[in-house]
Amino acid sequence: MANSSAPAQPAYTDAVVRGFALVAVLYGIVGMLVGVIVASQLAWPELINGIPWLTYGRLRPLHTNAVIFAFGGSVLFATSYHVVQRTCQTALFLPKLAWFTFIGWNLIVLSAVVTLPLGMTSGKEYAELEWPIDIAIAIVWVAYAVVFFGTIGIRKVRHIYVANWFFGAFIIAVALLHIVNSAEVPVTLWPMKSYSAYAGVQDAMVQWWYGHNAVGFFLTAGFLGIMYYYIPKQAERPVYSYRLSIVHFWALIFTYMWAGPHHLHYTALPDWAQSVGMIFSLVLLAPSWGGMINGIMTLSGAWHKLRDDPILKFLIVSLSFYGMSTFEGPMMSIKTVNALSHYTDWTVGHVHSGALGWVGMVSIGALYHLIPRMFGRKSMYSTRAIELHFWIATIGIVLYIAAMWIAGVMQGLMWRAVNPDGTLVYSFVESVKATYPFYVIRVCGGLLYLTGMVIMAWNTIMTVANGRAVPTPIPAVPAHA
Ligand code: HEM
Ligand code: HEM
Repeated sequence: MANSSAPAQPAYTDAVVRGFALVAVLYGIVGMLVGVIVASQLAWPELINGIPWLTYGRLRPLHTNAVIFAFGGSVLFATSYHVVQRTCQTALFLPKLAWFTFIGWNLIVLSAVVTLPLGMTSGKEYAELEWPIDIAIAIVWVAYAVVFFGTIGIRKVRHIYVANWFFGAFIIAVALLHIVNSAEVPVTLWPMKSYSAYAGVQDAMVQWWYGHNAVGFFLTAGFLGIMYYYIPKQAERPVYSYRLSIVHFWALIFTYMWAGPHHLHYTALPDWAQSVGMIFSLVLLAPSWGGMINGIMTLSGAWHKLRDDPILKFLIVSLSFYGMSTFEGPMMSIKTVNALSHYTDWTVGHVHSGALGWVGMVSIGALYHLIPRMFGRKSMYSTRAIELHFWIATIGIVLYIAAMWIAGVMQGLMWRAVNPDGTLVYSFVESVKATYPFYVIRVCGGLLYLTGMVIMAWNTIMTVANGRAVPTPIPAVPAHA
């Protein structure tokens, strides 16, 4: 009889974590490859001529959707499912629903890969996908919320660890943002077409309430959840200040919600609303830096570990970039500074110091921690390859963001330079010409970052090939817990 042996010890639901972790590496490569292609198109505009679905306007949203939602999203699914089980000491609630989120999310990614190059877009940045896909996203996201909060509901320990607060806020906020911003009137099913339910400046306001909170919750709160679990684990130290983490949580989620208007300075949005956005953005510096300090100080007493642990290097350097971009952001939200930075490549530099430096590095560090454990190994196949990845990626980021900062400030200054008679000193095309070398440097930086991801993929394949997906038993919970 097959069932005659003693009942197996309950184990965590890790297969779905493995799935999301592996597709994250794949989507990282695809998204960044498209990033390198669009960066090359800006340097050499005639690069791909005559193929409509490979034009810049279609590939750019493919890049942003692939890196944010396919790569970043898969990292967040993998880590949140991993962390919530460990910190609640229970398997996932409704594992089949967790698989539904895996299949659903990948189908959504696939539909983005098909529809964006075909030119189907709602025209709203970071929310370009058309109405049938929007509905699918809402359904998958609700399923995700049920699995995540259901797991918290059946937890075996009383306490809800702070990482879960951040993941939870990210899941709830993204549901809210997506549903409100995607309110639209469908027109046709194929080609997919809809019109926004909002009009004029209200549409812009809703869009940038969404856009900024996509940064605040998708690209920040979720990844802070990652920080609060994986840095203490990798450093083998408790979080520096648990009290600070709670203050950090409430201050951050409250403040982010109001900062969106800084994307609409000097527009038709009422001036007072722009000022509210600016003030909340300045306030946002405090919780952001509180979180960064809490993460970095978790290493106190263990700084020496940074010397020979490249995973820790990824995690800690990600926090330095988080600190940099959350200092730069509030500065750029000051109206007079924004008058210089807006429309220039300075914004793109800011975006990528957050995206490559913070989101990318913390994701890569967490995946390097997670993948071997998911395949029954103590560490990745090659630690030297992780070290190499770290340095290549860091040099790549520095090239990318330094080039964009210089280009951006230069563009801003050239556009506003006027002769004594009031005419412009430079024509627009002169500023484009002056930017050319910096676009080439950006391509080099992007290529380095992409090369690092390819090294990671090789290391992952070797780790999986030399490992075994063994179930991790759930430890028994002490009676007092
Ligand atoms: C190899 C790495 C990458 C390269 C070469 C790259 C390149 C680019 C380029 C050329 C643009 C268009 C800029 C413009 O319109 O002027 C762009 C936009 C963008 N990328 Fe990347 N990217 C990379 C990685 C990433 C990652 C990992 C993320 C997010 C996690 C990201 C997020 C974004 C966002 C949000 C924008 C829109 C920026 C804006 O509208 O201001 N990128 N990227
Ligand atoms: C305290 C935190 C932050 C503040 C106050 C802030 C503020 C700003 C400001 C003022 C802009 C320029 C808006 C414009 O002129 O159009 C901007 C753009 C942007 N920031 Fe941040 N930022 C912060 C952190 C971050 C982080 C950590 C990331 C990435 C992970 C990020 C991603 C972006 C993106 C993607 C855009 C471009 C949006 C677009 O135009 O498409 N920001 N941010």
